[in-house]
Amino acid sequence: MKKIIILASGTGSNAEAILNYFKDNNQVKVSHIISNNPKAKVLQMAEKRNVENFYFNRKDLYESDKIYDFFKENNPDLIILAGFLWIIPEKIIRDFPDKIINIHPSLLPKYGGKGMYGNNVHHAVLANKEKETGITIHYVNEKYDEGKIIANFKTPLNPEEGLNALLMKIRKLEHENYPKVIEQLLFPEI
Ligand code: GAR
Repeated sequence: MKKIIILASGTGSNAEAILNYFKDNNQVKVSHIISNNPKAKVLQMAEKRNVENFYFNRKDLYESDKIYDFFKENNPDLIILAGFLWIIPEKIIRDFPDKIINIHPSLLPKYGGKGMYGNNVHHAVLANKEKETGITIHYVNEKYDEGKIIANFKTPLNPEEGLNALLMKIRKLEHENYPKVIEQLLFPEI
């Protein structure tokens, strides 16, 4: 049985897509969904879907070993960031090499870095009249959006498209591809 832990701060649509994808797979279990935002919809979703969940704060992550120890005790096969915006401490990255991954709503290295998340990315893509955009799935290192790229998926854009159309395209790419990439990382032999 492969075990995954999801970290998310917002709505949790990617976390939900991952739960849906693996729902009938008895080889994969999402053991926990945890969040740095006590009001995040993702925690309500986890509760409703009977996935263990909890909230943690900055101190738990950066000034104590609470989250580090939690990972050590649970020993997940993958730690998945799905709309989680804080840097992961070096100690965790060091002890879970190639086990922490993130999804980003642009074709990295374009539109990455601190402050580049969610709609900030999409506004910048539209302002620059990009002809294509997409998503990137990458390993997490100690810098924003700079870890080794695992996969990216593209979609064309035309100048008339606004934020909503762009958002829908990104969501679709994310929900369709993040779970599949996770599955490939868990079962590279297949
Ligand atoms: C997703 O679009 C994800 O790519 C983005 O946050 C959204 C979370 O949505 N992540 C970043 O911008 C990371 N820099 P969700 O809560 O509905 O899954």
